[in-house]
Amino acid sequence: MRNPSKRLCDCLRDWAFLALIVVFGGMAKGNAVSPFLFLFENTLKLSFYTAESGRYTLSLLPEGQAAWKTFVESEATHTHSFAWTDWKPDQEVAFRLTHLSESANGRFHTPRVALPVRALLYGDSRWGHAVHQSILSLAQTLEFDFFINLGDVVNTPDDRSEWAMFTESVRAVSGERPYQLVLGNHDWEIPEAEKTIPGYPVEGYYTFVLGKTRWIVLNTNERLSKSTDQGRFLLSELQKTKANREIPILITHHPIFSAGPHGEENVVKRLREFLLPYIREYRVPLVISGHDHAYQKIIVEDTLYLITAGGGAACYPQTYEPEGLVCYYPVHHCVLLSVEEQGIQGIAYDTEREVIDAFYFPHTALDPISPNH
Ligand SMILES: [Fe+2]
Repeated sequence: MRNPSKRLCDCLRDWAFLALIVVFGGMAKGNAVSPFLFLFENTLKLSFYTAESGRYTLSLLPEGQAAWKTFVESEATHTHSFAWTDWKPDQEVAFRLTHLSESANGRFHTPRVALPVRALLYGDSRWGHAVHQSILSLAQTLEFDFFINLGDVVNTPDDRSEWAMFTESVRAVSGERPYQLVLGNHDWEIPEAEKTIPGYPVEGYYTFVLGKTRWIVLNTNERLSKSTDQGRFLLSELQKTKANREIPILITHHPIFSAGPHGEENVVKRLREFLLPYIREYRVPLVISGHDHAYQKIIVEDTLYLITAGGGAACYPQTYEPEGLVCYYPVHHCVLLSVEEQGIQGIAYDTEREVIDAFYFPHTALDPISPNH
């Protein structure tokens, strides 16, 4: 029997290799290039893979500047990840990748950091290639700063064709603005060996910060407790939001509350039990999740639980009626989210581009904390 971690390792390498074909197929043909753009903490990473080891140069030209900024790899490698720390927000950036006598050009847009910060959310595309494509086509008509994919990008991690489908689906967008991935139960267990994959946090949990918003992505496939590295990471990130007066936003693949068929599974109940005290103490206004294939809004105490899991896989019928459930729509969709100073705005679109829901949820995350709190 094959080791499941090894299987996923193989598949991610396939995925990496496919990404390479996209990038350097483009180089050979002189087409636009779409490497993987990713936000990790405050750093923008531009990553790609090569089947053969090489030493590459990345040149960047932000709009309004006359000189290219150049990054040169120190040694030849298969996995290429360029970290850009002093980027400016809301800028169009031309880039050029060079290797030996070949080069390829492309462009991306840096995210805004001033509120409102805007994201395009969807998840659980799995084998739903056509739906995934229609969501990304819709996304091209909307204004936002980055993607969040809530996970389960494939159904079976060792199926090459599924990774190829995912890679092909995001090829046109993954290099244009940050594409933030969350690990689903269908694509998790990144093994030790995958630490060589650039730009992709092998632990599955990470933070990215845009101005007054701190987005905390958890790996809910791993059991959370106060004594784990991830538990300590969560506490530390939440403490930063209090110290810096930032809006904390939690992102999980498994939901904490859900009216779908997964709503009372052990993993969901455990997550609820562990996270609720933190959500209360740190006044987290928004938790975004996937996994239960539908669009859901649930309001519990002062927090909006938004589930967007209609990115391609078949939708699930409503199964439970949790307290605070506002709506449950089992349709394919994506959500345009805008985090503002005093509220969170969202518009959910179906694949026909019809608005299925629009909301404004006020929050007080930036208000001064009273001495009694
Ligand atoms: Fe899932």
